[in-house]
Amino acid sequence: MSQTLAIIKPDAVAAGNAGNIIALLERAGFTVKALTFTSLTAKQAGAFYAVHAGRPFYDELVEFMMSGPVIPMALEAENAVPKLRDAIGATDPAEAAEGTVRKLYAESKGRNAIHASDSDENAANEIGFFFSGHGRLAVG
Ligand code: CMP
Repeated sequence: MSQTLAIIKPDAVAAGNAGNIIALLERAGFTVKALTFTSLTAKQAGAFYAVHAGRPFYDELVEFMMSGPVIPMALEAENAVPKLRDAIGATDPAEAAEGTVRKLYAESKGRNAIHASDSDENAANEIGFFFSGHGRLAVG
């Protein structure tokens, strides 16, 4: 078993799709190990996406991620990182496969409903960004 981090983004929370997204992920075989409902500050959103600093979409991404509440979750499954990326679909919903979170709930490349870690190393860092041990919150 391994873990990965998902964040239900502000567009999906505001649209009332969070429950359906969590249900879809549970049906896909993930167990929710930690979950919180929070709003990111500019500093937190900027730090979380620091790897994208300097990309043309960075400012828009940070602005969007602090535009409303988000739901970060630590999810567990076998091969959790690739399994979650399969379940959420391509970054651009126009390219996402049928039945994926982004096909069902994303509006655009930017407003794309959900984030997922892209490697085991990033998953560990990203889970640590929001949660410290046994689901206790690390954000402040
Ligand atoms: P996410 O999986 O959260 O990781 C990085 C995010 O950057 C990605 O989802 C998209 O929301 C965002 N992103 C990537 N490319 C673009 C783009 N061309 N325009 C706007 N946002 C983008």
